[in-house]
Amino acid sequence: MASNSAIESIREKLDIVDVVKDYVPALRRAGRNYKAPCPFHNEKTPSFTVSPDKQIFYCFGCNEGGDVFTFVMKIEGLTFPEAARKLAQKAGLAWEDRHFTGLSAADREILEIKKALAAACEFYKKFLFSSGGEKARLYLGARKINKATVEAFGLGYAPANDNAMTQELLGKGFSKDLLARAGLSGLRDSDGSPYDYFRGRIMFPIRTQTGAVTAFGGRILDSGEPKYLNSPETPVFSKRKTLYGLDRALAGIRKSGRLLLLEGYMDVISAHQHGVDFAVAPLGTALTLEHASFIKRHAKDTIIMFDPDAAGIKASVRAAEIFMEAGLYSRIAELDKGLDPDEYLNENGPEAFAQKIADAADPLDFRMNLFFKNRAAVSSQDKARAIDALLETVSKQGDEILKSEWVKNIAARFEVSEVSVLQQLKKKSGEPGKERKSEEASVPLSMPALELGFIQLLLKNTELTVCAEGLEESDLSHPLTRRIFSEIKNLEPLNRARAAAALIEKLPEEAALIMKLSVADIASDLDPAQNAAKTVKMLKKISHERRRKELNKNYSTLTPSQLEELKQLTELRGKTGE
Ligand code: GTP
Ligand code: MN
Repeated sequence: MASNSAIESIREKLDIVDVVKDYVPALRRAGRNYKAPCPFHNEKTPSFTVSPDKQIFYCFGCNEGGDVFTFVMKIEGLTFPEAARKLAQKAGLAWEDRHFTGLSAADREILEIKKALAAACEFYKKFLFSSGGEKARLYLGARKINKATVEAFGLGYAPANDNAMTQELLGKGFSKDLLARAGLSGLRDSDGSPYDYFRGRIMFPIRTQTGAVTAFGGRILDSGEPKYLNSPETPVFSKRKTLYGLDRALAGIRKSGRLLLLEGYMDVISAHQHGVDFAVAPLGTALTLEHASFIKRHAKDTIIMFDPDAAGIKASVRAAEIFMEAGLYSRIAELDKGLDPDEYLNENGPEAFAQKIADAADPLDFRMNLFFKNRAAVSSQDKARAIDALLETVSKQGDEILKSEWVKNIAARFEVSEVSVLQQLKKKSGEPGKERKSEEASVPLSMPALELGFIQLLLKNTELTVCAEGLEESDLSHPLTRRIFSEIKNLEPLNRARAAAALIEKLPEEAALIMKLSVADIASDLDPAQNAAKTVKMLKKISHERRRKELNKNYSTLTPSQLEELKQLTELRGKTGE
């Protein structure tokens, strides 16, 4: 990472409370901590907590948390070096990238790739408005995209020449290998010479939620194959995780709590031009769980509106099921007359469009409507088959109340008994081969409250680690409290002041627990030192007792030294007289 001293001086100069306040103006003091509605997910009651003592933030709702660097990385979608540069500036410290003495090669490359993508974006924009871009400008005009929209989305045009963009970027000092790694240029097998990946296409920059370009989509003018070409996967671009238009839509999504999921680039652009500012689209792929869990953090009401063709209908049901798996309720909107959202808006205007959003149906109703649409009479066999298919959707519903509502609705609509629908559903979820989340694996062995309380006490008052001198890891019964305890004992003195943040670096998979404990209040009237001394004593006693019982159980096979141990433990027990 970066040189420690540079990072430490940023930490010393900045208070996490001030930094967070810049992004979360609603932050208010609440006891020792500060609280606000969480900027990372949609909520009404504030569970987002900032601890000035620990210099960390944590949200009890969505489990996001970390130190001041993590906060800026998350909220701005930045790499560590980018966040550090930004914070150095805020702290009024001189910052040069050479401060990153040990900056990893991977991080260095990410920064370079982002620079190259930004430069390419400028190049395509410039070309769109040059004489060479006339045909593209006419095309955009014919598609009713106005100049303000072109600028807002940063649309551009890639020349049809072999390597005009590559030449320009090589001239700016980017290497051809880097351009290839950025997905901007291809390298010929024959001689390794570079050519532009996108040629003769309208360019749609794909950005992170804070606007950094990570990839492009390119649409052919008129006709040709493929119609859309996307950047390949690169170190900064993963299709599975990216939603087009998010940088433009996030504010609208947060404000309204609504998200409109469309199918394509043109749909999103058209929606925003017509004032529908909460619209995004996946990149020509199916919705993924990654998309869904991101969306869940920001939107309560998610409306799926895909093209009204067979593929679009199938994809919308699939998307609704993915949302269900992520624990998010969504609705499906349907456009008539075979128009896609872009065409529909241009023909019928934003009011009619808003009505379609308002009319969006529950996913199960949507499927039932489809079934009954062009059917006069329904045979029993049709019914059985249809219900069986519907139960696929029902079985994915994690919300038991909605599930039972759905069973009721199916029974009513198909005029069959609720009991039989329910039985069929049971059969379905019991079917072998269906992957069912193993609950045993996810539920941890319960942690004794005393041990948790002790860890919490140490996290909040690391100086108390001295009180725990006589306590061994093996005196704790749970593997996790053991591990955390051992890490706390091993913290370098420098890191004690920021114990929580330092521990999270060591045990990233336990970040949520560590932050929760550091931030939550301790329910005890004792002063921390007394509390710690008392807890250590109790833990010791419980541990002795555990050991004594274990030895007793294996009495017949004990070694002489174990027998001696048992004798001592038994005496000790007599002495304390409890
Ligand atoms: P227009 O035809 O310009 O209105 O675009 P559209 O956004 O309506 O496209 P369409 O409905 O045909 O496709 C929806 C989305 O699927 C597009 O925005 C692309 O993201 C993706 N897509 C369409 N065609 C292709 C293709 O040939 N290749 C790839 N990779 N993606 C495509
Ligand atoms: Mn279209």
